[in-house]
Amino acid sequence: MKRFYLVLLFLLSLSFFSCNTDFKPKPLNIIPKPAHAWLQPGYFTLAANSRILLGNHDSLRFEAQYLDSILNKYAGLKLKIIPVNGVKEIDNDIILRLTPGMSIGDEGYQLRVNRGTISVLANKPAGVFYGIQSLLQLFPSSFYTRTAEKKDIEVPHCFIKDEPRFSYRGMHLDVSRHFFPPADIKKYIDMLAMYKFNTFHWHLTDDQGWRIEIKKYPKLTKIGAWRDSTLIGRYGKKPVRYDEKRYGGFYTQDEVRDIVRYATQRHITIIPEIEMPGHSSAALAAYPELACTPGPFHVATTWGVFKDIYCPKEKTFRFLENVLTEVMELFPSKYIHIGGDEVPKARWKSSRFCQQLIKKDGLKNEEELQSWFIQRIEKFLNDHGRKLIGWDEILQGGLSPNATVMSWRGIKGGIAAARAGHDAIMTPGGYCYFDHYQADRNFQPLAIGGFTTLKKVYSYEPVPEELNAKEAKHILGAQGNVWTEYIPDFKKVQYMTLPRMAALAEVDWTPANKKNWPDFQRRIQQHFLIYKALGYNYCPGSYHVDISVEDTTASGLKVTLESEIYHPEIRYTLDGNAPTIHSKRYNRPFVVKHGTTIQAAVFVDGKLMEKPSVKKTK
Ligand code: ACM
Repeated sequence: MKRFYLVLLFLLSLSFFSCNTDFKPKPLNIIPKPAHAWLQPGYFTLAANSRILLGNHDSLRFEAQYLDSILNKYAGLKLKIIPVNGVKEIDNDIILRLTPGMSIGDEGYQLRVNRGTISVLANKPAGVFYGIQSLLQLFPSSFYTRTAEKKDIEVPHCFIKDEPRFSYRGMHLDVSRHFFPPADIKKYIDMLAMYKFNTFHWHLTDDQGWRIEIKKYPKLTKIGAWRDSTLIGRYGKKPVRYDEKRYGGFYTQDEVRDIVRYATQRHITIIPEIEMPGHSSAALAAYPELACTPGPFHVATTWGVFKDIYCPKEKTFRFLENVLTEVMELFPSKYIHIGGDEVPKARWKSSRFCQQLIKKDGLKNEEELQSWFIQRIEKFLNDHGRKLIGWDEILQGGLSPNATVMSWRGIKGGIAAARAGHDAIMTPGGYCYFDHYQADRNFQPLAIGGFTTLKKVYSYEPVPEELNAKEAKHILGAQGNVWTEYIPDFKKVQYMTLPRMAALAEVDWTPANKKNWPDFQRRIQQHFLIYKALGYNYCPGSYHVDISVEDTTASGLKVTLESEIYHPEIRYTLDGNAPTIHSKRYNRPFVVKHGTTIQAAVFVDGKLMEKPSVKKTK
């Protein structure tokens, strides 16, 4: 019986679509791509008399106000927010409702747009919030450009049932190498929210500056938050030059609380990182007694890794535990990140105290001493109901019993952690480091190195194929890291993260078999319009031309030219000269003889965008 109705429904829906022969679905532009989405003919028109009706008045109040504030800011609409109970007729309204028991997890949602209603249903407020993010991306991109005008907003009829692939979807920001004021951090959180990230990893301390107020240790911010000078240009380049300007800043505890509240409302957990035992020059500058040698130390003015690290003395543990106690009061996150990366052991090797400790505790070497250090901190965090995360070096010398590993030196750390039954977060440099170049470095602002294009980020698969199904469950998700040695201001943070964080969002959210690069390439063009309208700085992508040659034709070699730019204007030559705006335009694959030199480049508005690619066929 049930089946009969389903078949009937299917046939009816077919006839419905065939009656609307002029319905050409405009594809959806939502990033990350929903798990399931169906477009239907017709448009809902959001207008000044539309209302936001709440199914659960109190628990969705923020979500309603959030949506309303955006409608107000960009379309001049000010919608009434009222409980749905008691509303006689629903007409052109938006309903937000919690309907526990749906099979879409804690973060999934169901979004339906039809003639009279937009409804966003979810098990939890987080799902409603993500449904709202998808709804905002159904609006025409012109929505963001017309401010005070009160115009109706057309939303295509559709049905979306969506939930994330991974439970951990993270973006990181280093505020030590450069400091970004609270307003910028909130803007960053807005960017994360747009792409349904649920974790902000806030790298608060490092050699070049301690950035969080700790009441018990005022010198951390009085001394540790300020450096005397900053390296100019690339690290390692001669002659070495400094700007001779005092630089710094920090977040007060009130500012931190305000940012945590802002993020929590947007369903983003902030994981604070307090680096130990390395990357601690700023702390040692303030409290030299925590080192193995007498000092003095200074807040680092250049980049790299520094030898002076915390000494594993009782005094140091008391200090770190007191710091972590204040940190835990500020951040309600389950996880606390304790760094653990890049720890030179020279000072521990030459310290009589450390060598005696190694002997006394039956440790093998300094690696095991580091593990002992981290385990002690882990116990402290666990005793306070928190879990420890560390960079993958925490595997050296033995992993702490409950630790979660952030795999950054490739994927080996993640694999080892998962095999040992530990959770892991994947953030391998080659895919997830957004301080890397994203296009030809000769045409890009200074970056640390690497070459991680948008397409490469998009191609990332967080679950290593080496893992079996049980081990794979320990891969919680992926995270983009933004180290800021060469990122002095927030405009550049945006340039380095947009649009790569959009690609990573899809890696983290969308089922692997639903990912589709050409479709993402199309959708990201629409997001570029949103970035422009919002005043977000972004990188349009790599203009590099890939020249591929196939020996498949009898008459010669088939040449295909591709770029990650959408519908690029590629021009090429076969005569050994560099392409110019007058060279032949590439439209489709062509055939050349053996021994031909192909040169190709992308042009925009008559301008060469990157160095031409060159390939000589055999
Ligand atoms: C790192 O990039 N040092 C974790």
